[in-house]
Amino acid sequence: MIHPAELIQRKRDGGELEAGELAELVLGYARGDVPDYQMAAFCMAIYFRGLSSAETFALTDAMIRSGATIDLGSALGRKVVDKHSTGGVGDKTSIAVGPIVAACGVPFGKMSGRGLGHTGGTLDKLESIPGFRVELGLDEFVAQVREIGLAIVGQSADLVPADKRLYALRDVTATVDNLSLIAASIMSKKIAAGADAIVLDVKVGDGAFMKSVEDAQALAEMMIELGDRAGREVVCLLTDMDQPLGRAVGNALEIREALETLRGQGPPDFTDLVLDAAGRLLALSDLGVDDAEGRRRAERAVADGSALRAYESWIRAQGGDPDEEALPAAPVVRPVPAPRDGYVAELGAGAIGLAALRLSAGRATKDDPIDHAVGIRCLCKRGDAVEEGAPLAEVHARDESTAGTAAAEVAAAYRIDAEAPRARPLLIEVVHG
Ligand code: URA
Repeated sequence: MIHPAELIQRKRDGGELEAGELAELVLGYARGDVPDYQMAAFCMAIYFRGLSSAETFALTDAMIRSGATIDLGSALGRKVVDKHSTGGVGDKTSIAVGPIVAACGVPFGKMSGRGLGHTGGTLDKLESIPGFRVELGLDEFVAQVREIGLAIVGQSADLVPADKRLYALRDVTATVDNLSLIAASIMSKKIAAGADAIVLDVKVGDGAFMKSVEDAQALAEMMIELGDRAGREVVCLLTDMDQPLGRAVGNALEIREALETLRGQGPPDFTDLVLDAAGRLLALSDLGVDDAEGRRRAERAVADGSALRAYESWIRAQGGDPDEEALPAAPVVRPVPAPRDGYVAELGAGAIGLAALRLSAGRATKDDPIDHAVGIRCLCKRGDAVEEGAPLAEVHARDESTAGTAAAEVAAAYRIDAEAPRARPLLIEVVHG
């Protein structure tokens, strides 16, 4: 029988835990035997002291063992692919990538999370679609991937329940941005949900949990190693999160942007990442194509409308209304004017994420409701020329008062210079296993 306080103390003082001790703590937490306050203290001790690679593996393994696992590949007789992001601002990539990959004939089964800190979560975005159900039973999940080729679901009570509780706890206790906790959280879900090959989008920069390329590389290597030990192929894309991805930040606004992208009318940076990630997933699948051919097929699925049709059947299969008109819209839309002529030199992703959070696009505490309609559209991005008084962005708010506060925060997130900034690529590096 473990004593959580002793383990917290040992980690707080920089000691190492045995695999069995970590497993008891995590499994006890998943059962409700270890209370939130002790787990929160433990996460904070990890935040300051870190975990060794043996401890990270033991934590991941215990989280997987807290629930059921699926062998999707065997259930479908196909190689199944999945993608996950470490979390960013305006990151609706999976919602566009899933339908493209499915339209190309490759099964895509994904378990997603909710918003974390200032970053949005795929599940919250999907729940802005009226009727959409994120809670599918395991059998339903497998059946839907078999029949429709695509399912994106929440962590059912069966799969990785330890991460489900821990994720919500870390979100509100400032313990998200630790390499080992992120790696264990993501890889436990990916391994338990059964995909054979995984593309991980590791976000780097001001709006990401990893602020430096070095930290992002370390996280990528950790996740590749965890995947390797579980027999999964993992490719990590390190991508820029100094500014929001695409234009839309906020749940329903992001669904609209994913839809525009599936129609071939999305913002250039987001479209490029979606096609790149989809192409790499196709290259990892059993289609026997390389990255370049994967990308060509992804482009074709958008151009010929098959990706959009795959989106519609997927949303209907999970009970949702795929019509864009059905999405909620905010009653107040306030433009944020440019203070002077010049070029957008910076657009702080972290500040935009926080402004969206304060509009209620995300949660400040674990049980806060989300307003799916609100958010921000960044009409101008880094490098764009702007004219004084022309709109830099739009705030979509529930009322005039929150619109005013958010508009000031959004204006402060922009830096306008006389000179155009040096171009920075979205894709920084690709790390293979
Ligand atoms: N995404 C996850 O699933 N878990 C984390 O801890 C961070 C991002």
